[in-house]
Formats: sequence, C-alpha cells, structure tokens
Amino acid sequence: MVTRRATGADLDAIMDLERTSFPTDAWSDAMMREELASPHGWYVVVEEAGRLVGYAGLRAVRGARDADIQTITISAAARGRGRGRALLATLLTEAVDRGVHDVFLEVRADNPVAQALYASEGFVEVGRRPRYYQPDDVDAIVMQLDLRGWAARRAETAASSAADPTTSSPTGKGWC
Ligand SMILES: CC(C)(COP(=O)(O)OP(=O)(O)OC[C@H]1O[C@@H](n2cnc3c(N)ncnc32)[C@H](O)[C@@H]1OP(=O)(O)O)[C@@H](O)C(=O)NCCC(=O)NCCS
Repeated sequence: MVTRRATGADLDAIMDLERTSFPTDAWSDAMMREELASPHGWYVVVEEAGRLVGYAGLRAVRGARDADIQTITISAAARGRGRGRALLATLLTEAVDRGVHDVFLEVRADNPVAQALYASEGFVEVGRRPRYYQPDDVDAIVMQLDLRGWAARRAETAASSAADPTTSSPTGKGWC
C-alpha cells in the first residue's frame, strides 16, 4: 500500500471512485480538478498494486486557524481494514504541520460508518445543515475536532506503544 500526494494525473481514477462512492452527489470533474490544483488544498491517494483504492483531501489556507476535511473515500472492496482511519490521520497530521487549531467537516446524517470514524478520532457534532445533500434531502452534520487535543492523544499513545511494544496494533491504527 502506498500513500502519496495526488496530482492532476490522478483525476480520472479519483473521479471513477468518486462516482461509485457518491452515486447521487458526486463532485464534477471540474470541481475535483480545481480542488487538486488549489494552493489551499492537500490531496492524497492510496494505491495498491498500482490501482487507486482511496483518496482524501484537506483544505487548509496557510496561516489560518481552521481547516476542513473536504472528502475521504476508500473503494468498497478495500474498506474495513483501517485504510480510512489511516488516510484521515494523514490529513490531520498535515493540518498539525500547518499550525491548524480546529478541523471541521460535514457528513451525511445517513452515513453512520463515517460518523463513527470521525467520532472515534475526537470529532464532535457542532451543528446541522438541514436538507444540505440534494437530491436526497439528507441533513449534513457539522463536526469539529480540537486538533491539538488529537495530536496530544496520538503522541501519548505512540509513547506508550514504544514503551510497551505488545500494545501496538498489528493494523497500525491503534491510537484510539
Ligand atoms: C468512511 C470510509 C472512508 C471509512 O473507511 P474504512 O477504510 O472502511 O474505515 P476503517 O477500516 O479505517 O474503519 C474506521 C472506523 O470506521 C467505522 N467503520 C468502518 N466500517 C464500519 C462498518 N461496516 N460499520 C460500522 N462502522 C464502521 C468504525 O468506527 C471503524 O473503526 P474500528 O475499526 O476501530 O471499529 C469508507 O467507509 C468509505 O469510503 N465510505 C464511502 C465514502 C464516504 O462515506 N466517505 C465519507 C464522506 S464524509
């Protein structure tokens, strides 16, 4: 498994996965192209055996206190094995490096899997946008993460894992 920065050359593979993962509200090619090219964006892809199996994006204006998780997707066949959590951690680590204090995201109210992932990393619900996702008429839940708290928890878990290697997770996602 390789995780690397996305480039414009990844657009077609990203859009294939985008349309499969979000059948009713996929971004357009133009929106995704703009995101990949934005100086405020930071997108990564995950590849296995040369095939793209995931992507995720952060929007973090340099010097700003807040950042947003724009998207995160793992292909259906690759889900449930820690890749989504690892991708999220990659974005949050970049946000830490950019000096961000708080990270926000929106998630569909009918997406309990993504909500569980975010909550387990420390995101809390701070609001709702009624009927935000169209045409499905589904609310958006707005979530916020205190990034310095997240980084402190992560460092603490890494330190205790180093002190006692038997506590480390074989999947590499054991800090929560
Ligand atoms: C959300 C998504 C990125 C998670 O990726 P993943 O690789 O399957 O997730 P992980 O294996 O890293 O699991 C992370 C957590 O998600 C939750 N989760 C994962 N699969 C789940 C399932 N089938 N049922 C309930 N919760 C689940 C759990 O909280 C899990 O933590 P745990 O393994 O410690 O219990 C993936 O399901 C996906 O791409 N979904 C479609 C696109 C999408 O909804 N993106 C989010 C938009 S806001």
